[in-house]
Amino acid sequence: MSTKNSENLKQRRAFLKTSAIIAGGTLISNIPFSGVYAEEGGVIKIALIGCGNRGTGAAFQALATKYNIKLVAMADAFRDRIDKSYEALTQKFGKDKVDVPEDKKFVGFDSYKHAIAEADVVLLVSPPGFRPVHFEEAVRKNKHVFMEKPVATDSPGIRSVLATAEEAKRKKLNVVVGLQRRYQKNYRETLKRIQDGVAGDIVSGQVYWNSGGVWVNPRQSGQTEMEYQMRNWYYFNWLCGDHINEQHVHNIDVANWVKNSYPVSAQGTGSRFLRTGKDHGEIFDNHTVEFIYADGAVIQSQCRHHEGTLNRVDESFQGTKGRVYLSANNSAKLWDTKGNVMFNYAGKGDPNPYQTEHDELFAAIDKGEYKFADAERVAKSTMTAIMGRFATYSGKEVKWEDALNSQVNLMPDTLSWDAMPKILPDADGNYPYAIPGKSKVV
Ligand SMILES: NC(=O)c1ccc[n+]([C@@H]2O[C@H](COP(=O)([O-])OP(=O)(O)OC[C@H]3O[C@@H](n4cnc5c(N)ncnc54)[C@H](O)[C@@H]3O)[C@@H](O)[C@H]2O)c1
Repeated sequence: MSTKNSENLKQRRAFLKTSAIIAGGTLISNIPFSGVYAEEGGVIKIALIGCGNRGTGAAFQALATKYNIKLVAMADAFRDRIDKSYEALTQKFGKDKVDVPEDKKFVGFDSYKHAIAEADVVLLVSPPGFRPVHFEEAVRKNKHVFMEKPVATDSPGIRSVLATAEEAKRKKLNVVVGLQRRYQKNYRETLKRIQDGVAGDIVSGQVYWNSGGVWVNPRQSGQTEMEYQMRNWYYFNWLCGDHINEQHVHNIDVANWVKNSYPVSAQGTGSRFLRTGKDHGEIFDNHTVEFIYADGAVIQSQCRHHEGTLNRVDESFQGTKGRVYLSANNSAKLWDTKGNVMFNYAGKGDPNPYQTEHDELFAAIDKGEYKFADAERVAKSTMTAIMGRFATYSGKEVKWEDALNSQVNLMPDTLSWDAMPKILPDADGNYPYAIPGKSKVV
Protein backbone atom coordinates (compact mmCIF):
# COMPACT_ATOMS: atom_id res chain seq x y z
CA MET A 1 0.00 0.00 0.00
CA SER A 2 1.33 3.47 -0.87
CA THR A 3 2.10 5.94 1.91
CA LYS A 4 -0.70 8.15 0.63
CA ASN A 5 -3.24 5.30 0.78
CA SER A 6 -2.21 4.25 4.22
CA GLU A 7 -2.44 7.90 5.33
CA ASN A 8 -5.97 8.06 3.88
CA LEU A 9 -7.03 4.91 5.68
CA LYS A 10 -5.65 6.31 8.96
CA GLN A 11 -7.63 9.50 8.41
CA ARG A 12 -10.81 7.53 7.68
CA ARG A 13 -10.40 5.51 10.85
CA ALA A 14 -9.75 8.68 12.84
CA PHE A 15 -12.85 10.18 11.25
CA LEU A 16 -14.85 7.15 12.31
CA LYS A 17 -13.77 7.60 15.90
CA THR A 18 -14.67 11.27 16.05
CA SER A 19 -17.87 11.08 13.99
CA ALA A 20 -19.27 8.07 15.84
CA ILE A 21 -19.79 10.25 18.90
CA ILE A 22 -21.86 13.09 17.68
CA ALA A 23 -23.81 16.09 18.88
CA GLY A 24 -25.79 15.25 21.96
CA GLY A 25 -23.50 12.38 22.79
CA THR A 26 -25.57 9.82 20.86
CA LEU A 27 -23.53 6.94 19.54
CA ILE A 28 -24.19 6.11 15.90
CA SER A 29 -23.09 2.62 14.97
CA ASN A 30 -22.63 1.28 11.44
CA ILE A 31 -21.79 4.59 9.85
CA PRO A 32 -20.13 4.33 6.49
CA PHE A 33 -16.58 4.75 7.72
CA SER A 34 -16.99 1.70 9.91
CA GLY A 35 -14.35 -0.07 7.91
CA VAL A 36 -16.56 -1.34 5.07
CA TYR A 37 -14.29 0.02 2.39
CA ALA A 38 -11.32 0.87 4.57
CA GLU A 39 -10.84 -2.84 5.23
CA GLU A 40 -11.12 -3.66 1.55
CA GLY A 41 -8.27 -1.59 0.23
CA GLY A 42 -10.18 1.65 -0.01
CA VAL A 43 -12.98 0.64 -2.39
CA ILE A 44 -15.94 3.02 -2.11
CA LYS A 45 -19.14 1.20 -3.06
CA ILE A 46 -21.86 3.20 -4.79
CA ALA A 47 -25.46 2.36 -5.71
CA LEU A 48 -27.53 4.06 -8.39
CA ILE A 49 -31.24 4.60 -7.71
CA GLY A 50 -33.01 5.82 -10.85
CA CYS A 51 -31.06 4.56 -13.86
CA GLY A 52 -32.32 7.01 -16.48
CA ASN A 53 -30.45 9.69 -18.37
CA ARG A 54 -29.17 11.78 -15.48
CA GLY A 55 -28.67 8.79 -13.23
CA THR A 56 -26.45 7.15 -15.81
CA GLY A 57 -24.62 10.47 -16.19
CA ALA A 58 -24.16 10.80 -12.43
CA ALA A 59 -22.77 7.25 -12.22
CA PHE A 60 -20.38 8.10 -15.09
CA GLN A 61 -19.17 11.13 -13.16
CA ALA A 62 -18.74 9.21 -9.91
CA LEU A 63 -16.81 6.42 -11.64
CA ALA A 64 -14.71 8.96 -13.56
CA THR A 65 -13.32 10.51 -10.35
CA LYS A 66 -9.81 9.48 -9.39
CA TYR A 67 -10.98 7.47 -6.37
CA ASN A 68 -11.34 3.73 -6.04
CA ILE A 69 -15.07 3.49 -6.71
CA LYS A 70 -17.24 0.55 -7.74
CA LEU A 71 -20.89 0.57 -8.72
CA VAL A 72 -22.32 -2.42 -6.83
CA ALA A 73 -26.11 -2.09 -7.13
CA MET A 74 -28.71 -0.53 -9.41
CA ALA A 75 -32.41 0.15 -8.76
CA ASP A 76 -35.13 1.36 -11.05
CA ALA A 77 -38.89 1.16 -11.37
CA PHE A 78 -38.35 -0.46 -14.79
CA ARG A 79 -35.96 -3.23 -15.79
CA ASP A 80 -35.30 -1.85 -19.30
CA ARG A 81 -33.87 1.37 -17.81
CA ILE A 82 -31.39 -0.63 -15.71
CA ASP A 83 -30.33 -2.66 -18.74
CA LYS A 84 -29.67 0.40 -20.89
CA SER A 85 -27.75 2.16 -18.15
CA TYR A 86 -25.73 -0.96 -17.22
CA GLU A 87 -24.75 -1.44 -20.86
CA ALA A 88 -23.57 2.16 -21.24
CA LEU A 89 -21.64 2.07 -17.95
CA THR A 90 -19.93 -1.28 -18.58
CA GLN A 91 -18.95 -0.18 -22.08
CA LYS A 92 -17.21 2.84 -20.62
CA PHE A 93 -15.78 1.47 -17.36
CA GLY A 94 -15.75 -2.33 -17.69
CA LYS A 95 -17.14 -4.97 -15.33
CA ASP A 96 -14.49 -4.44 -12.69
CA LYS A 97 -15.77 -0.97 -11.82
CA VAL A 98 -19.37 -1.75 -12.79
CA ASP A 99 -19.62 -4.76 -10.53
CA VAL A 100 -23.39 -5.31 -10.57
CA PRO A 101 -24.39 -8.97 -10.85
CA GLU A 102 -27.99 -9.92 -11.69
CA ASP A 103 -29.01 -10.28 -8.06
CA LYS A 104 -27.93 -6.67 -7.37
CA LYS A 105 -30.21 -5.22 -10.07
CA PHE A 106 -33.40 -4.33 -8.23
CA VAL A 107 -36.68 -3.48 -9.96
CA GLY A 108 -39.90 -1.82 -8.75
CA PHE A 109 -41.12 0.70 -6.20
CA ASP A 110 -39.20 -0.91 -3.32
CA SER A 111 -36.00 -1.43 -5.30
CA TYR A 112 -34.35 1.60 -3.66
CA LYS A 113 -34.23 -0.09 -0.24
CA HIS A 114 -32.29 -3.08 -1.53
CA ALA A 115 -29.80 -1.01 -3.54
CA ILE A 116 -29.19 1.51 -0.74
CA ALA A 117 -28.35 -1.34 1.64
CA GLU A 118 -25.46 -2.45 -0.60
CA ALA A 119 -23.45 0.78 -0.78
CA ASP A 120 -21.36 3.36 1.12
CA VAL A 121 -22.57 6.21 -1.09
CA VAL A 122 -25.86 6.41 -2.99
CA LEU A 123 -26.87 8.35 -6.09
CA LEU A 124 -30.58 9.25 -5.86
CA VAL A 125 -31.74 10.16 -9.36
CA SER A 126 -35.35 9.05 -9.79
CA PRO A 127 -38.08 11.60 -10.63
CA PRO A 128 -38.21 14.08 -7.73
CA GLY A 129 -41.53 12.90 -6.22
CA PHE A 130 -39.70 9.91 -4.71
CA ARG A 131 -36.68 11.84 -3.45
CA PRO A 132 -37.93 12.49 0.11
CA VAL A 133 -38.50 8.77 0.75
CA HIS A 134 -35.25 7.69 -0.93
CA PHE A 135 -33.25 10.33 0.94
CA GLU A 136 -34.81 9.37 4.26
CA GLU A 137 -33.90 5.71 3.72
CA ALA A 138 -30.33 6.58 2.67
CA VAL A 139 -29.69 8.67 5.79
CA ARG A 140 -31.46 6.15 8.02
CA LYS A 141 -28.97 3.59 6.68
CA ASN A 142 -26.02 6.01 7.25
CA LYS A 143 -25.06 6.53 3.61
CA HIS A 144 -23.38 9.53 2.02
CA VAL A 145 -25.58 10.96 -0.71
CA PHE A 146 -25.43 12.53 -4.11
CA MET A 147 -28.97 13.40 -5.16
CA GLU A 148 -30.45 15.34 -8.00
CA LYS A 149 -32.58 18.43 -7.80
CA PRO A 150 -35.40 19.16 -7.21
CA VAL A 151 -35.77 17.30 -3.95
CA ALA A 152 -39.58 17.11 -3.73
CA THR A 153 -42.79 18.02 -5.53
CA ASP A 154 -45.05 19.08 -2.64
CA SER A 155 -44.81 20.66 0.82
CA PRO A 156 -45.02 17.42 2.86
CA GLY A 157 -42.07 16.19 0.75
CA ILE A 158 -40.10 19.36 1.54
CA ARG A 159 -40.76 19.04 5.27
CA SER A 160 -39.55 15.45 5.12
CA VAL A 161 -36.33 16.45 3.31
CA LEU A 162 -35.71 19.24 5.85
CA ALA A 163 -36.04 16.74 8.69
CA THR A 164 -33.75 14.23 6.95
CA ALA A 165 -31.23 17.01 6.21
CA GLU A 166 -30.98 17.65 9.96
CA GLU A 167 -30.44 13.97 10.59
CA ALA A 168 -27.72 13.84 7.90
CA LYS A 169 -25.95 16.77 9.60
CA ARG A 170 -26.24 15.07 12.97
CA LYS A 171 -24.68 11.92 11.53
CA LYS A 172 -22.05 13.91 9.58
CA LEU A 173 -23.06 12.33 6.28
CA ASN A 174 -21.94 14.26 3.21
CA VAL A 175 -24.84 15.33 0.99
CA VAL A 176 -24.27 16.94 -2.41
CA VAL A 177 -27.29 17.99 -4.49
CA GLY A 178 -27.15 18.47 -8.27
CA LEU A 179 -27.71 22.20 -8.51
CA GLN A 180 -24.48 22.31 -10.45
CA ARG A 181 -24.24 26.11 -10.70
CA ARG A 182 -23.15 25.94 -7.04
CA TYR A 183 -20.16 23.89 -8.28
CA GLN A 184 -19.44 26.02 -11.37
CA LYS A 185 -16.48 28.40 -11.37
CA ASN A 186 -18.07 31.48 -12.94
CA TYR A 187 -20.92 31.34 -10.40
CA ARG A 188 -18.60 30.74 -7.46
CA GLU A 189 -16.25 33.58 -8.46
CA THR A 190 -19.10 36.04 -9.02
CA LEU A 191 -21.02 35.10 -5.91
CA LYS A 192 -17.89 35.68 -3.82
CA ARG A 193 -17.78 39.24 -5.16
CA ILE A 194 -21.51 39.82 -4.63
CA GLN A 195 -21.24 38.57 -1.07
CA ASP A 196 -18.25 40.88 -0.54
CA GLY A 197 -20.62 43.74 -1.44
CA VAL A 198 -19.20 44.68 -4.85
CA ALA A 199 -22.71 45.20 -6.29
CA GLY A 200 -24.12 46.65 -3.04
CA ASP A 201 -27.52 45.46 -1.80
CA ILE A 202 -29.32 43.41 -4.44
CA VAL A 203 -32.73 45.05 -4.91
CA SER A 204 -34.07 43.29 -8.02
CA GLY A 205 -33.38 40.53 -10.49
CA GLN A 206 -34.66 38.44 -13.39
CA VAL A 207 -34.18 34.69 -13.72
CA TYR A 208 -35.13 32.66 -16.79
CA TRP A 209 -35.57 29.13 -18.11
CA ASN A 210 -37.28 29.66 -21.44
CA SER A 211 -37.00 26.80 -23.92
CA GLY A 212 -38.93 24.63 -26.36
CA GLY A 213 -39.78 21.97 -23.78
CA VAL A 214 -38.80 18.34 -23.18
CA TRP A 215 -39.63 14.74 -24.14
CA VAL A 216 -43.07 13.10 -24.13
CA ASN A 217 -43.64 9.36 -23.63
CA PRO A 218 -47.08 8.74 -25.20
CA ARG A 219 -49.48 6.19 -23.69
CA GLN A 220 -48.88 2.61 -24.88
CA SER A 221 -51.60 -0.02 -25.08
CA GLY A 222 -51.63 -2.39 -22.12
CA GLN A 223 -50.13 0.12 -19.67
CA THR A 224 -51.87 0.58 -16.33
CA GLU A 225 -52.55 4.21 -15.38
CA MET A 226 -49.69 4.03 -12.86
CA GLU A 227 -47.24 2.71 -15.44
CA TYR A 228 -48.27 5.34 -17.96
CA GLN A 229 -47.76 8.20 -15.49
CA MET A 230 -44.43 6.74 -14.34
CA ARG A 231 -43.16 6.50 -17.92
CA ASN A 232 -44.47 9.97 -18.82
CA TRP A 233 -43.52 11.43 -15.45
CA TYR A 234 -42.66 14.96 -16.59
CA TYR A 235 -46.33 15.88 -17.02
CA PHE A 236 -47.63 14.84 -13.58
CA ASN A 237 -47.07 17.00 -10.52
CA TRP A 238 -46.72 14.19 -7.98
CA LEU A 239 -43.66 13.01 -9.92
CA CYS A 240 -42.25 16.22 -11.41
CA GLY A 241 -43.75 19.26 -9.74
CA ASP A 242 -44.13 21.09 -13.10
CA HIS A 243 -41.21 22.56 -15.07
CA ILE A 244 -40.99 25.58 -12.74
CA ASN A 245 -39.79 23.01 -10.21
CA GLU A 246 -37.99 20.47 -12.41
CA GLN A 247 -35.86 22.92 -14.45
CA HIS A 248 -36.34 26.46 -13.24
CA VAL A 249 -35.26 25.53 -9.70
CA HIS A 250 -31.69 25.99 -11.02
CA ASN A 251 -32.23 29.71 -11.67
CA ILE A 252 -34.47 30.23 -8.65
CA ASP A 253 -31.70 28.77 -6.49
CA VAL A 254 -29.24 31.29 -7.97
CA ALA A 255 -31.62 34.09 -6.89
CA ASN A 256 -31.74 32.68 -3.36
CA TRP A 257 -27.95 32.36 -3.36
CA VAL A 258 -27.47 35.96 -4.49
CA LYS A 259 -29.99 37.16 -1.89
CA ASN A 260 -28.58 34.76 0.71
CA SER A 261 -32.18 34.18 1.81
CA TYR A 262 -35.56 32.85 0.66
CA PRO A 263 -38.59 34.83 -0.48
CA VAL A 264 -41.37 35.67 1.95
CA SER A 265 -44.11 35.63 -0.69
CA ALA A 266 -44.87 35.13 -4.37
CA GLN A 267 -47.52 36.06 -6.88
CA GLY A 268 -47.66 35.22 -10.55
CA THR A 269 -49.42 34.12 -13.66
CA GLY A 270 -49.20 31.06 -15.89
CA SER A 271 -51.20 28.76 -18.13
CA ARG A 272 -51.47 25.71 -20.39
CA PHE A 273 -51.59 27.55 -23.64
CA LEU A 274 -49.80 25.67 -26.44
CA ARG A 275 -48.99 22.32 -24.85
CA THR A 276 -52.46 20.94 -24.19
CA GLY A 277 -52.48 17.34 -25.54
CA LYS A 278 -53.63 14.26 -23.65
CA ASP A 279 -50.01 13.21 -23.14
CA HIS A 280 -49.26 16.59 -21.57
CA GLY A 281 -50.88 15.63 -18.27
CA GLU A 282 -51.62 18.53 -15.96
CA ILE A 283 -48.58 20.85 -16.03
CA PHE A 284 -48.54 24.42 -17.36
CA ASP A 285 -46.34 25.48 -20.29
CA ASN A 286 -45.50 28.95 -18.89
CA HIS A 287 -45.09 30.61 -15.48
CA THR A 288 -44.12 34.17 -14.56
CA VAL A 289 -43.62 34.81 -10.86
CA GLU A 290 -42.65 37.76 -8.71
CA PHE A 291 -40.74 36.57 -5.63
CA ILE A 292 -40.59 39.11 -2.77
CA TYR A 293 -37.77 38.94 -0.18
CA ALA A 294 -37.88 40.20 3.41
CA ASP A 295 -35.84 43.32 2.54
CA GLY A 296 -38.33 44.24 -0.23
CA ALA A 297 -36.17 42.98 -3.11
CA VAL A 298 -38.18 41.64 -6.05
CA ILE A 299 -36.95 38.80 -8.25
CA GLN A 300 -38.91 38.23 -11.44
CA SER A 301 -38.89 34.61 -12.63
CA GLN A 302 -39.97 33.37 -16.03
CA CYS A 303 -40.06 29.84 -17.42
CA ARG A 304 -41.63 28.74 -20.67
CA HIS A 305 -41.91 25.60 -22.80
CA HIS A 306 -43.02 26.98 -26.17
CA GLU A 307 -41.39 25.61 -29.31
CA GLY A 308 -40.03 28.22 -31.72
CA THR A 309 -39.73 31.02 -29.12
CA LEU A 310 -36.64 32.69 -27.64
CA ASN A 311 -34.40 30.31 -25.71
CA ARG A 312 -33.04 31.99 -22.62
CA VAL A 313 -31.56 30.37 -19.50
CA ASP A 314 -29.68 32.89 -17.32
CA GLU A 315 -29.86 35.32 -14.40
CA SER A 316 -29.47 39.09 -13.96
CA PHE A 317 -29.49 41.12 -10.74
CA GLN A 318 -29.39 44.81 -9.89
CA GLY A 319 -27.75 46.17 -6.74
CA THR A 320 -27.25 49.59 -5.16
CA LYS A 321 -23.62 49.69 -6.42
CA GLY A 322 -23.84 47.70 -9.64
CA ARG A 323 -25.47 44.96 -11.67
CA VAL A 324 -24.59 41.41 -12.58
CA TYR A 325 -25.18 38.85 -15.35
CA LEU A 326 -24.66 35.09 -14.93
CA SER A 327 -25.05 32.15 -17.26
CA ALA A 328 -24.36 28.42 -17.26
CA ASN A 329 -22.21 28.92 -20.39
CA ASN A 330 -19.33 29.82 -18.03
CA SER A 331 -19.63 33.60 -18.44
CA ALA A 332 -20.38 36.28 -15.85
CA LYS A 333 -20.13 40.06 -15.73
CA LEU A 334 -20.38 42.80 -13.13
CA TRP A 335 -20.86 46.49 -13.93
CA ASP A 336 -20.90 49.54 -11.67
CA THR A 337 -23.90 51.88 -11.76
CA LYS A 338 -22.29 53.97 -14.52
CA GLY A 339 -21.97 50.90 -16.77
CA ASN A 340 -18.20 50.38 -16.30
CA VAL A 341 -17.24 46.70 -16.29
CA MET A 342 -15.87 45.75 -12.84
CA PHE A 343 -15.49 42.00 -13.48
CA ASN A 344 -15.69 40.01 -16.68
CA TYR A 345 -15.42 36.24 -16.38
CA ALA A 346 -15.03 34.06 -19.46
CA GLY A 347 -14.24 30.60 -18.17
CA LYS A 348 -13.11 28.91 -21.35
CA GLY A 349 -11.96 25.42 -20.45
CA ASP A 350 -13.46 25.51 -16.94
CA PRO A 351 -14.22 22.07 -15.48
CA ASN A 352 -17.64 20.55 -16.12
CA PRO A 353 -19.62 21.37 -12.95
CA TYR A 354 -21.43 18.00 -13.09
CA GLN A 355 -18.00 16.39 -12.75
CA THR A 356 -16.88 18.85 -10.05
CA GLU A 357 -19.84 17.82 -7.87
CA HIS A 358 -18.54 14.26 -7.80
CA ASP A 359 -14.84 15.17 -7.64
CA GLU A 360 -15.47 17.24 -4.51
CA LEU A 361 -17.90 14.80 -2.87
CA PHE A 362 -15.69 11.75 -3.32
CA ALA A 363 -12.55 13.67 -2.33
CA ALA A 364 -14.22 14.41 1.02
CA ILE A 365 -15.43 10.84 1.45
CA ASP A 366 -12.05 9.40 0.47
CA LYS A 367 -10.34 11.55 3.08
CA GLY A 368 -12.96 10.81 5.72
CA GLU A 369 -14.02 14.47 5.82
CA TYR A 370 -17.46 15.88 6.49
CA LYS A 371 -17.83 18.84 4.11
CA PHE A 372 -21.20 18.90 2.32
CA ALA A 373 -24.67 19.63 3.66
CA ASP A 374 -26.57 20.79 0.56
CA ALA A 375 -29.96 19.29 1.37
CA GLU A 376 -31.46 22.04 3.53
CA ARG A 377 -30.79 24.88 1.13
CA VAL A 378 -31.90 22.84 -1.90
CA ALA A 379 -35.09 21.87 -0.04
CA LYS A 380 -35.71 25.59 0.51
CA SER A 381 -35.00 26.46 -3.14
CA THR A 382 -37.29 23.60 -4.20
CA MET A 383 -39.90 25.06 -1.82
CA THR A 384 -39.44 28.42 -3.54
CA ALA A 385 -40.20 26.82 -6.92
CA ILE A 386 -43.24 25.02 -5.49
CA MET A 387 -44.42 28.30 -3.95
CA GLY A 388 -44.12 29.78 -7.47
CA ARG A 389 -46.32 26.97 -8.80
CA PHE A 390 -48.85 27.58 -6.02
CA ALA A 391 -48.89 31.26 -7.06
CA THR A 392 -49.41 30.64 -10.80
CA TYR A 393 -51.95 27.84 -10.28
CA SER A 394 -54.00 29.85 -7.76
CA GLY A 395 -53.50 33.33 -9.18
CA LYS A 396 -53.25 34.51 -5.57
CA GLU A 397 -50.46 35.87 -3.40
CA VAL A 398 -48.84 32.99 -1.50
CA LYS A 399 -46.86 33.46 1.72
CA TRP A 400 -43.80 31.33 2.46
CA GLU A 401 -45.18 29.99 5.77
CA ASP A 402 -48.49 28.97 4.17
CA ALA A 403 -46.67 27.29 1.29
CA LEU A 404 -44.27 25.43 3.58
CA ASN A 405 -47.10 24.29 5.86
CA SER A 406 -49.45 23.23 3.06
CA GLN A 407 -51.05 19.84 3.74
CA VAL A 408 -51.63 19.09 0.04
CA ASN A 409 -49.97 15.71 -0.50
CA LEU A 410 -49.69 14.75 -4.16
CA MET A 411 -48.24 11.27 -3.70
CA PRO A 412 -50.46 8.22 -4.32
CA ASP A 413 -51.72 6.43 -1.20
CA THR A 414 -50.41 3.13 -2.58
CA LEU A 415 -47.48 2.54 -4.90
CA SER A 416 -48.06 -0.51 -7.09
CA TRP A 417 -48.62 -1.02 -10.80
CA ASP A 418 -52.36 -1.52 -10.45
CA ALA A 419 -52.89 1.22 -7.81
CA MET A 420 -54.34 4.56 -8.90
CA PRO A 421 -52.47 7.86 -8.72
CA LYS A 422 -54.55 10.72 -7.26
CA ILE A 423 -54.83 12.47 -10.63
CA LEU A 424 -56.86 10.54 -13.22
CA PRO A 425 -57.99 11.30 -16.79
CA ASP A 426 -61.62 11.95 -17.75
CA ALA A 427 -63.51 9.71 -20.20
CA ASP A 428 -61.78 11.47 -23.13
CA GLY A 429 -58.29 10.93 -21.67
CA ASN A 430 -57.72 14.56 -20.60
CA TYR A 431 -56.41 15.39 -17.13
CA PRO A 432 -57.79 18.11 -14.84
CA TYR A 433 -55.44 21.05 -14.36
CA ALA A 434 -55.34 24.17 -12.21
CA ILE A 435 -57.56 27.13 -13.13
CA PRO A 436 -56.20 30.38 -11.61
CA GLY A 437 -58.77 32.12 -9.44
CA LYS A 438 -60.76 28.89 -9.00
CA SER A 439 -58.45 26.06 -7.93
CA LYS A 440 -57.43 25.56 -4.33
CA VAL A 441 -53.81 24.41 -4.62
CA VAL A 442 -51.98 25.32 -1.41
N1 LIG B 1 -28.84 18.77 -12.64
C1 LIG B 1 -29.29 18.72 -13.87
O1 LIG B 1 -28.92 19.52 -14.73
C2 LIG B 1 -30.27 17.67 -14.26
C3 LIG B 1 -30.43 17.33 -15.60
C4 LIG B 1 -31.36 16.35 -15.93
C5 LIG B 1 -32.13 15.75 -14.94
N2 LIG B 1 -31.96 16.11 -13.65
C6 LIG B 1 -32.80 15.50 -12.58
O2 LIG B 1 -32.52 14.12 -12.49
C7 LIG B 1 -33.70 13.40 -12.14
C8 LIG B 1 -33.95 12.30 -13.17
O3 LIG B 1 -34.15 12.88 -14.44
P1 LIG B 1 -33.80 12.10 -15.79
O4 LIG B 1 -33.73 13.12 -16.85
O5 LIG B 1 -32.68 11.18 -15.58
O6 LIG B 1 -35.14 11.25 -16.00
P2 LIG B 1 -35.25 9.78 -16.59
O7 LIG B 1 -36.69 9.50 -16.83
O8 LIG B 1 -34.31 9.60 -17.73
O9 LIG B 1 -34.74 8.87 -15.38
C9 LIG B 1 -35.45 8.68 -14.20
C10 LIG B 1 -35.34 7.19 -13.87
O10 LIG B 1 -35.90 6.95 -12.58
C11 LIG B 1 -36.65 5.76 -12.66
N3 LIG B 1 -37.62 5.70 -11.59
C12 LIG B 1 -38.87 6.22 -11.53
N4 LIG B 1 -39.42 6.00 -10.34
C13 LIG B 1 -38.51 5.30 -9.62
C14 LIG B 1 -38.52 4.77 -8.32
N5 LIG B 1 -39.58 4.93 -7.49
N6 LIG B 1 -37.43 4.12 -7.88
C15 LIG B 1 -36.36 3.95 -8.69
N7 LIG B 1 -36.31 4.43 -9.96
C16 LIG B 1 -37.37 5.11 -10.40
C17 LIG B 1 -37.27 5.83 -14.05
O11 LIG B 1 -37.79 4.58 -14.48
C18 LIG B 1 -36.12 6.32 -14.86
O12 LIG B 1 -35.30 5.27 -15.33
C19 LIG B 1 -34.80 14.44 -12.04
O13 LIG B 1 -34.94 14.87 -10.72
C20 LIG B 1 -34.27 15.59 -12.87
O14 LIG B 1 -34.79 16.84 -12.47
C21 LIG B 1 -31.04 17.04 -13.29
